[in-house]
Amino acid sequence: MCGIIGCIGRGDETLDTLVHGLEKLEYRGYDSAGIALLDESLSTCKTSGKIADLREKLDGQALTGEVGIGHTRWSTHGPPTDENAHPHADCTDDVAVVHNGIIENYQPIRDELAAAGHQFTSDTDTEVVPHLIESNLSEGLSPEAAFRETIGRLEGSYAIAAIIEDAEGLFVARNDSPLVVGLGEGASTDSDRGEFFIASDVPAFRDFTGDVIYLEDGEFARLDGGLTVTDSQGNRVDKEAHTVEWDAEETGKSGYDHFMLKEIHEQPRALRQCLRGRVEEQTASVDIGDLADLNPAGVQFVACGTSYHAAMYGAQLFRDAGVPAQAYLASEYATSPPPVGNTLVVGISQSGETADTLAALREAKNRGARTFTLTNTVGSTMDRECDHTLYIRSGPEIGVAATKTFAGQLTALNLFSMATVERSSTRRNVVPALRELPGNVQQILDTSAAEDVADYYEDAQSYFFIGRGHQYPVALEGALKLKEISYEHAEGFAAGELKHGPLALVDEDTPVFAMAIGDDEKARKTVGNIKEVEARDAPVVAVTDGQSDAERYADHVLEIPETHPRAAAVLGNVQLQLVAYHIADQLGRSIDKPRNLAKSVTVE
Ligand code: AGP
Repeated sequence: MCGIIGCIGRGDETLDTLVHGLEKLEYRGYDSAGIALLDESLSTCKTSGKIADLREKLDGQALTGEVGIGHTRWSTHGPPTDENAHPHADCTDDVAVVHNGIIENYQPIRDELAAAGHQFTSDTDTEVVPHLIESNLSEGLSPEAAFRETIGRLEGSYAIAAIIEDAEGLFVARNDSPLVVGLGEGASTDSDRGEFFIASDVPAFRDFTGDVIYLEDGEFARLDGGLTVTDSQGNRVDKEAHTVEWDAEETGKSGYDHFMLKEIHEQPRALRQCLRGRVEEQTASVDIGDLADLNPAGVQFVACGTSYHAAMYGAQLFRDAGVPAQAYLASEYATSPPPVGNTLVVGISQSGETADTLAALREAKNRGARTFTLTNTVGSTMDRECDHTLYIRSGPEIGVAATKTFAGQLTALNLFSMATVERSSTRRNVVPALRELPGNVQQILDTSAAEDVADYYEDAQSYFFIGRGHQYPVALEGALKLKEISYEHAEGFAAGELKHGPLALVDEDTPVFAMAIGDDEKARKTVGNIKEVEARDAPVVAVTDGQSDAERYADHVLEIPETHPRAAAVLGNVQLQLVAYHIADQLGRSIDKPRNLAKSVTVE
């Protein structure tokens, strides 16, 4: 995980462009940061801490140059110290390198280079790269050949950018880590001058251009005024330029205190985008193009974190329609892979880059499965590697805590199941509920009592969340959201499981958030579980549409409009997002960048 950026052709703006880009990439990691610029010689500035600390350090230094690279780090090898911050250099400070990913065979390379006299100054896997380039240069290779030869030695995942003192421009390569090239003013795929950018993600340079090309695994690029992309054999590759639709404003906070709050409030719009052109209320029909013809005999969902909770929900939809379906934690899938047969393996991922999910999808593909991704990120590795993609169209999500993308995932899963396997009678009930979803979410945002509830319970020892059926993954998600941004202990349970053990933990300091939706048997049983905790003096917060008598036993109520239970899962979750946000805010936590976490987890 980590974010890298580089640029050439920005003249005096080079340093500012790089720092600005790192600020946009800070969601990918933020325990140290650094920059290297090439002028007559290389100069580097790096520090542990956030980009703000780097800015402060840069104030006291005169870094100049019109070619540069930058990095924001999330530690994998070695603690977050100044020494371990990127860029890393060779012994002579003629080569500077930034890297996102993990070099699995770094230890034997490091031993070999150390035996040859190279001096290492960090604990990182990355530092072998500049030293290998140095070693190859000393054998008489050209800078480009030295870079290619170096990359050829590496095993693992990497997006790497290097600058080499005797060569003009930037060298980049990727394998299993995201890397995009931005074509700025005067730049195109075949121009020989102009502004060029490279980065782990488009927001890094979106203020300057929306024209991008996506590098594939095994490709190299040289940016030296123009752009040359080659494959691993050195053959030139013609790349197609794409235009991203998100504007720069969409990646700002737009007046909200945090990206997370902004993204919670963006949900009505994100859901409208997800549904646009895909549902027709009159005929209760769903249109997701050719994907409707997939006709899976079974579905295995693989995902992590919030996306795994969406996967649990998705698996229920398919099972309810009579199709065998199961959700797997992606990190566990390959340890004991289930038989695939004519199964569709679906990776759910906001980023489309999560290493555990990618590994599970690749395992499934190797075993002959058809693969499918439900993602927010056009051009992501999953998008490109899977046989099929359904976009959730939520727009960029910067806060580490997934919010609008969970809503988008649940909504898109409804489209997916309805278009592929569900009966028209189901569609007639669910389509209108989906159409009402954006308005219903807006109603919750306008009227929610979540802030008062958060005020009331901000000192609790522990928080429990319970739900059944479609509301069970929402209970798990409510707990995950609260723990990741508030650092308080929170657990989600299937409501019926509480009495099989966790009930022993319940007391007057353990508020229980209960998803009490509808008035069917599930709801009645959940009300029974609410009574169980109430009898043990636990405060109860009922998230309810008012159909059951849950309110009678609740200390607080978070209301949602009455709708289909599948849509109610999205609505109830909005209330839980707001509770988590306000508790974390009252505790003064780092909401958009919680400690120890990163937005996109590109290591297994
Ligand atoms: C969500 O709030 C988390 N930050 C995390 O669990 C996340 O959902 C997980 O890492 C998966 O990410 P993905 O959807 O990009 O694959």
